[in-house]
Amino acid sequence: MKLILLGAPGAGKGTQAEIIAAKLRIPTISTGNILREAIRNETQTGLEAKRYMDGGMLVPDDVILGIVAERVAREDCKNGFILDGVPRTIAQAQALEDKGVCMDCVLSIEIDDAVIERRMTGRRVCASCGASYHVTAHPPRAGGVCDACGGELIIRKDDAPDTVRQRLKVFHEQTEALKGFYEKLGKLKLINGDQPIEAVTRDVLAALEIAQ
Ligand code: AP5
Ligand code: MG
Ligand code: ZN
Repeated sequence: MKLILLGAPGAGKGTQAEIIAAKLRIPTISTGNILREAIRNETQTGLEAKRYMDGGMLVPDDVILGIVAERVAREDCKNGFILDGVPRTIAQAQALEDKGVCMDCVLSIEIDDAVIERRMTGRRVCASCGASYHVTAHPPRAGGVCDACGGELIIRKDDAPDTVRQRLKVFHEQTEALKGFYEKLGKLKLINGDQPIEAVTRDVLAALEIAQ
């Protein structure tokens, strides 16, 4: 199973990717999480990506494609993987096709901008593994620490309201067109993201024809 989760910032890509990846026992490749780790480790890639991410802009395609190529070549991807937050431009999508990284299915998690802006103020993320939580919709079991790894929960710098609005603008300008790209390839399915997390998961599994 090679799956792309497409959707606006805050649509729930990371949340659903974690659940589906555990169920299918395949890895999630989140370019956002990989870049944030690179920033923490102060690598060359991290230093280059930081100014784009802090401003809510996209990181250049060549940086992203390098990251993805390296990651999908690893052993744990041989039975499939979930791409969370990549591709994000037509150029990235075309480059993946050209490289023979052919996806089975592309799920677009659909949700209005106004709902997203409200959601993002409550998001907390694990500083170690990148897992997403929400103060009311998806609280951690123990206050302030990640269920999965015990890491500290923090507010993402790019979740400031102005930066969220900028990220939504970039999504509509550069990423939303991917729906047409994958629709032409016959791979696109739409998922209603404006419902409780479990209901979104149910619809995702149904779209993938996986038993609940
Ligand atoms: P990235 O980390 O991918 O951020 P994003 O796409 O903006 O998406 P988010 O991670 O913010 O949201 P999500 O859809 O994962 O939602 P989540 O599940 O957390 O990218 C960050 C930056 O990196 C980009 O701006 C760019 O600079 C760079 N970058 C990354 N990839 C790139 C690429 N390919 N090309 C170029 N640049 C790239 O959920 C959000 C919140 O809602 C959480 O609090 C969650 O608990 C809650 N929630 C989830 N589902 C529900 C629900 N159904 N009901 C209620 N609450 C819910
Ligand atoms: Mg995410
Ligand atoms: Zn964690």
